[in-house]
Amino acid sequence: MVEAQSVQGFKSQPRLPSFAFPQRYDLILRPDLSSCKFTGAVHIAVDIADETRFLVLNAADISIEGGAIWFKNPISGKELLPSEVVMVEEDEILILRFDEILSIGEGILGIRFEGTLNDKMKGFYRSVHEHNGEKKNMAVTQFEPADARRCFPCWDEPAFKATFKITLEVPTHMVALSNMPVMEEKHDGLLKTLSFHESPIMSTYLVAIVIGFFDYVEASTSDGIKVRVYCQVGKSNQGKFALDVAVKTLDIYKKYFAVPYPLPKLDMVAIPDFAAGAMENYGLVTYRETALLFDDHHSAASNKQRVAVVVAHELAHQWFGNLVTMEWWTHLWLNEGFATWVSYLSVDALFPEWKVWSQFVDESTMGLSLDALAESHPIEVDINHASEVDEIFDDISYRKGASVIRMLQTYIGAECFQRSLAAYIKRFSYSNAKTEDLWAVLEEESGEPVKIIMNSWTKQKGYPVVYATLNDKKLELEQTQFLSNGSEGSGQWNVPITYFSGSYTSQKKFLLETKSAKLDIVDMLDSSTANNNQLIQQNQKTSGNFWIKINVDQAGFYRVKYDDNLAAGLRFAIESNQLSPVDRFGCLDDSFALCMACKQSLSSLLSLMGTYSGEEEYIVLSRIITISCRVTDAAADAVPELQADVKQFFINLLWHFAEKLGWDAKDNESHLDALLRGELLIALAELGHEVIIKEAVRRFNSFFLRDKHTPLLPPDTRKAAYVAVMRTVNSSNKSGYESLLKVYKEIDLSQEKGRILSALASSPDPAIVLDALNFLLSSEVRNQDALYGLAGISREGRDVAWVWLKDNWAYISKTWGSGFLITRFISSIVPLFSSEEKATEIEEFFASRIKPSIARTVKQSIERVKINAKWVKSITNDQSLGGIAKDLAGRKF
Ligand code: BES
Ligand code: ZN
Repeated sequence: MVEAQSVQGFKSQPRLPSFAFPQRYDLILRPDLSSCKFTGAVHIAVDIADETRFLVLNAADISIEGGAIWFKNPISGKELLPSEVVMVEEDEILILRFDEILSIGEGILGIRFEGTLNDKMKGFYRSVHEHNGEKKNMAVTQFEPADARRCFPCWDEPAFKATFKITLEVPTHMVALSNMPVMEEKHDGLLKTLSFHESPIMSTYLVAIVIGFFDYVEASTSDGIKVRVYCQVGKSNQGKFALDVAVKTLDIYKKYFAVPYPLPKLDMVAIPDFAAGAMENYGLVTYRETALLFDDHHSAASNKQRVAVVVAHELAHQWFGNLVTMEWWTHLWLNEGFATWVSYLSVDALFPEWKVWSQFVDESTMGLSLDALAESHPIEVDINHASEVDEIFDDISYRKGASVIRMLQTYIGAECFQRSLAAYIKRFSYSNAKTEDLWAVLEEESGEPVKIIMNSWTKQKGYPVVYATLNDKKLELEQTQFLSNGSEGSGQWNVPITYFSGSYTSQKKFLLETKSAKLDIVDMLDSSTANNNQLIQQNQKTSGNFWIKINVDQAGFYRVKYDDNLAAGLRFAIESNQLSPVDRFGCLDDSFALCMACKQSLSSLLSLMGTYSGEEEYIVLSRIITISCRVTDAAADAVPELQADVKQFFINLLWHFAEKLGWDAKDNESHLDALLRGELLIALAELGHEVIIKEAVRRFNSFFLRDKHTPLLPPDTRKAAYVAVMRTVNSSNKSGYESLLKVYKEIDLSQEKGRILSALASSPDPAIVLDALNFLLSSEVRNQDALYGLAGISREGRDVAWVWLKDNWAYISKTWGSGFLITRFISSIVPLFSSEEKATEIEEFFASRIKPSIARTVKQSIERVKINAKWVKSITNDQSLGGIAKDLAGRKF
């Protein structure tokens, strides 16, 4: 018998009690799309595991009228009415008290309720789309992480899996979709009733409904699973690319996980108002338009890759997440980290020429960046309230998660890893799992101490920097926690170290389980000497430096700091082209991180960058671009008089390949060249390269004045042109800016709108930046899209942006505050600053405005300002910088 005597005992608990749990939901919903109201009724088959007078489940923002609740008692079959019904708003729970005892067995709980189709992009909400030239509402659900309770009363936690039988009453002429196919359709005048097949058991956050006007394209997998992509009416062509990716991806995952896709159909729908990028609802995956649609004339290579990656990610969840679900949000990373990692498998199989595994370094570098903050959090994080979940959909769960999986896979081998995953999926199908369940399976299959190794990565935050020193023919390794603020944390990890020298075939591995270790590398030193002698005999130039690269292929989640000799050796290895692109990336990225943490001078980073003068690989140049922007901004704050030299050096570094690629796509050029062209031109425009800006404006004018299909401005180069146009406008000559706004309003393609928004605030004129930011808040821009505009704020615009954020905080908080998009306002603007005074000012502003959903982001963003401040100060004190910058600026590569 459950002991609690009053409703009080159930309040303020992190999780629902489990003495009663749902088996099956029979749910009917009747949305009214013009009044934006809905009514509904649910019958829940509830298993009473322990005698009780109470039922406790989730509900929020819905109203339940008096007399609308009953419970059919298991044994007697008697219908009981609750004697007390309490909705606890802050806990989002519904507590029902009955006078009679609910006996053990399966009873039925019936509840009638009603609610509003909100405009917050969560729960059961409305999105607006055009149909026959008119604005129409559509009704959509977004339940992850904890918003099914806003649509119907339910046990809204991932471990309470049940089956769902859904019925919808909707206007006859509309398309209505849910997780399962339609079983029966009845028409009654202007309304139709659709009954969907009962689903397999699943979690509430994966339940989905979409009602609106759509066209679709359709195909089948080799197993006969029907896959459809639903798009705006008249635009189904734009769904073909994603459809093709989806059909092939389902086959790939079926083989990889050794379990077929478990549902009879898969629908994927583009939703015009959508908070996340996409959502993996079982059998009914919903997407932002930019993440699903591909237009042959207007989509860029980057858009294409994004669509493929997002589809691959969401479909990975159909196994990892939907079939096997995390037991609690603490294990969210099992969903997101794995889906992120698995998506690379599929995209690599479908598009090998994209070399996505080498692009994986983008995931790890962003994970490393966030996890270098003192305000980071462990991968496995305590969650005590639903409101805390939103914030952990972050670079730790996704990117650090994916990176530590890759590290483990590399450690135990791809084949064993796949076997273990298949076993894990099989064992936990239609059930829930915790992180340690996965480790147990991997340990059984591999015989390696997986749990001990991995606990050090998932249960504590942060990661190590490994100091490498060559002493007396021994390689000395020592780990300390890496923090961007320059201090040393106390963490310690089991670090899978890999290293090689001379040739990749010499690769060795070693598990660093202690603070430090010495490795005997005599054989590597000997073969290096032999190699150098040979080069000298052949009269080739050699520095004679021995080199060793640690963290082969950047598969480990850690950074490396080499002693001066080893660092010089690596510069030689880079110049003489002995490292793979990924390892070249790694050397540069580690150096940059160490420089920001003031563990290495900017002058030494710049001279390292000088060794990348002939670089032509996408991932490496792309990182050089990002680093160039960061360094230019920091140098501008530290030593304004050096800014011109620093910029000139970066222009020199990027120009040679930009010139080679040109503005126009070559016949049959590679996907990576197309990506690179876009990024190089944007960077050169931002660096103020006159020739590029002039040419960009010429091409934009042809696009704007004559023809949106002009070959002069292919999609890959458009953002660069927009940024260049924004560099030329100012308060007295706004015409370029106005032209861009005009294109924004006219064009009916989300990707184009996104590109324009991301350029609008990049002007060097603060007045224009302010105007652009205000535009983001206008009715012209959908709430889901404001984040694109925030991402492009220029350094010159940061002061007005901060004032704008403060002035509009009440509105921003009201409009975006109930979801995770609010965090973007903070994380896009605050880290643009680099002084202690600003950090204090920002802290003071937020002190009275903190809520659980932004708490961590505020702390992290302020920490970034302090890190910038320290970095800028160290640049100011860098005596060699002036000379080096001048020298590099004068070099033509
Ligand atoms: N499960 C998430 C969607 C989500 C995110 C729901 C945040 C609730 C809160 C989905 O699988 C996802 O991860 N989407 C990504 C895209 C992916 C390719 C990284 C997204 O929304 O950006
Ligand atoms: Zn995901």
